Amino acid sequence: MKIISYSELGSTNSEAKRLSREVPPWTIIVAEKQTSGYGKKKKSWFSPIGGLYLSIILPPKFSFPLSLLNLATGIALIKVLKKYYLRNLSLKWPNDVRVREKKIAGILSENIIGKKLKSSIVGIGLNTNINYFPRELQKKATSLKKELKREIKNRKIIESILRELKKVLKMSPEKILKEYRKYENTLEKEVTIITHNKKIKGKAFDFDQEGNLILKLKNNKLKTVYWGEIV
Ligand code: BTN
Repeated sequence: MKIISYSELGSTNSEAKRLSREVPPWTIIVAEKQTSGYGKKKKSWFSPIGGLYLSIILPPKFSFPLSLLNLATGIALIKVLKKYYLRNLSLKWPNDVRVREKKIAGILSENIIGKKLKSSIVGIGLNTNINYFPRELQKKATSLKKELKREIKNRKIIESILRELKKVLKMSPEKILKEYRKYENTLEKEVTIITHNKKIKGKAFDFDQEGNLILKLKNNKLKTVYWGEIV
């Protein structure tokens, strides 16, 4: 495992994309803080010192659908967090990891498309040693430090993430989905999804082989949602 650490970056995902052709697969880009960390819909990701911000450059053979990569990473993070005896861990499609319904980590996978090579990076923002969140996040977010009342070593957790991610990425898509269903708790619920500025209502029915969400609409028709935010 090669880790390239920075005291500050705009975004580890942007840096990973920039470096992807120069460094070996499984290189990890880490920053102590980010000035323009982003998540889905380019929404800014709260990235002060204390949290963990990393992006992993995956080997080209792992360029499976980004949605499935997001799900796989979510499972790996659940396995890491379980080691800290956290209770009430869950996943919210497509990229939230939660403790007691509060977001503790976010995942953002992106593809790098070169001339021949297509590979993926997976970015993880994990609220490790964050003491305070801005007002708008206070009710929605938590950190390991807040949950455990102690500091966590970011370096140790990176090793654990990598170990678990390597294991999960060896699983078949069926197994990944089976594991994902265990922790995803919007399944079977009536949800509204905002996708491409449209609202769709339905029952979260299942996930397809690629990790997309299948909604059951009022007229009983099934609709696949590739990307969006469950509200
Ligand atoms: C989300 O929940 O919308 C995903 C958030 C992903 C944030 C991480 S922090 C490390 C990496 N660098 C970024 O700019 N984003 C990801």
